[in-house]
Amino acid sequence: MRRKIVAGNWKMNYGLIQTESLIVELKKQTKSSDAEVMIAPTFTNLWHAFEATRRHDIEVIAQNMHFAQQGAYTGEISAGMLKSIGIQTVILGHSERRAYFNETDEALAKKINTGLENDMDMIFCFGEELADRKAGNQEAVVESQIKNALFHLEADAFKHIILAYEPVWAIGTGETATPEQAQEMHAFIRKTLASKYGQKVAESVSILYGGSVKPNNAKEIFSKPDVDGGLIGGASLKAEDFFAIVNAI
Ligand code: 13P
Repeated sequence: MRRKIVAGNWKMNYGLIQTESLIVELKKQTKSSDAEVMIAPTFTNLWHAFEATRRHDIEVIAQNMHFAQQGAYTGEISAGMLKSIGIQTVILGHSERRAYFNETDEALAKKINTGLENDMDMIFCFGEELADRKAGNQEAVVESQIKNALFHLEADAFKHIILAYEPVWAIGTGETATPEQAQEMHAFIRKTLASKYGQKVAESVSILYGGSVKPNNAKEIFSKPDVDGGLIGGASLKAEDFFAIVNAI
């Protein structure tokens, strides 16, 4: 059975006090689904969040990391640093990192390798821009993002990889892919994986949808057979909304 996951990407929001309060609120919520719950606060609050959720069913994950193991990379965070405070999972390749910090497929392939060398799990994000979709190129774009960053891997590596399809035009815009558009793309992603690694590997990888998932649309999106959960931005900043989405699975 594939893992069902709802992960909250807090992006560059909340200092320590707000992080503490949100975690207190999250711990009051009850989960009625079998989805795994993850939250990704900013780097400076990871340790606090990790400690504060220790005995709870919430995994604290990171939003990014560098591809080098260590060294002269001022301002960066390594996989080893994350592991040293108990962080097992990291989001890589978010479209905001690609757009504002020039993260290329090549750099992401290196980050994936570093994650594997450090025995980490990774949520690998990708997705087309509005112009790609308008031109009908969404599948070609997604296929190349997946191939460029992941297709050098051995099949075994996919035990550590979770995919997140996040169409750029749906992120923070209030515009969501329709459940049908999400299903169509997720099925295409699985087919792309199967073409190289076979059906068994393709069926084992969880594929999350991200882009304006809210309490009022989560259930319909998650009901699609190839959608295994969500990567949630804005709605993950309020405990009630986030758990409404968790419970929609
Ligand atoms: P929104 O849910 O705010 O659209 O953000 C989605 C996202 O980027 C999650 O990584």
